[in-house]
Amino acid sequence: MKVTNAEIVISAVSKKQYPNDRLPEIALAGRSNVGKSSFINKLINRKNLARTSSKPGKTQTLNFYKINNAFYFVDVPGYGYAKVSKKEREKWGGMMEEYLQYRDTLKAVLLITDLRHEPTRDDVQMYEFLKYFELPVIVIATKLDKIPKSKRANHLKRTIQTLHIESNDLVLPFSAETGEGKEEAWGVLQSFL
Ligand code: GTP
Ligand code: MG
Repeated sequence: MKVTNAEIVISAVSKKQYPNDRLPEIALAGRSNVGKSSFINKLINRKNLARTSSKPGKTQTLNFYKINNAFYFVDVPGYGYAKVSKKEREKWGGMMEEYLQYRDTLKAVLLITDLRHEPTRDDVQMYEFLKYFELPVIVIATKLDKIPKSKRANHLKRTIQTLHIESNDLVLPFSAETGEGKEEAWGVLQSFL
């Protein structure tokens, strides 16, 4: 897809702040610092529209990015960062549930995992949570650039097995560093828009 326009519309913390123009939405989910915001930037060819950081916990709100006036990428705060208080974790859970469970313009969720590592228990839980709410999931296994070519197939297999990926769901290797997987990701996304 040729992206001609991308803008942040709102950083929301509650339902009443979500955009109400009924455009389709694609949300991101994944561990803190895994590369969710970087994925958005790479797809839309913008260096830092979605703010990224080498420190976990950069994204704290639901950030709605309107693309080509046609759909939204919804960037969300990550999970699994140890230095988060119980209270903050509960706030996160409430915010995610309110969005993921009830948002009828949400077309699919991109679950971003780190291809270098076996998916964590939190990743497995998130996948199950999304399936429970009958949301289409596309797993984006990112940081592909960090893995030698000879080992990539094995890492992908491990991701598929640990998450117990259902046969309808896709796993796409991706790198925000090199752009590998970008065209494939757009191809899949367009089928949901
Ligand atoms: P939170 O907002 O904290 O949940 O993090 P996030 O998932 O949005 O991660 P972010 O995009 O901010 O990236 C975290 C770090 O990983 C940054 O230092 C990125 O440069 C790096 N990173 C992201 N994607 C890739 C990738 O594909 N390859 C490499 N080598 N580094 C990446
Ligand atoms: Mg982020």
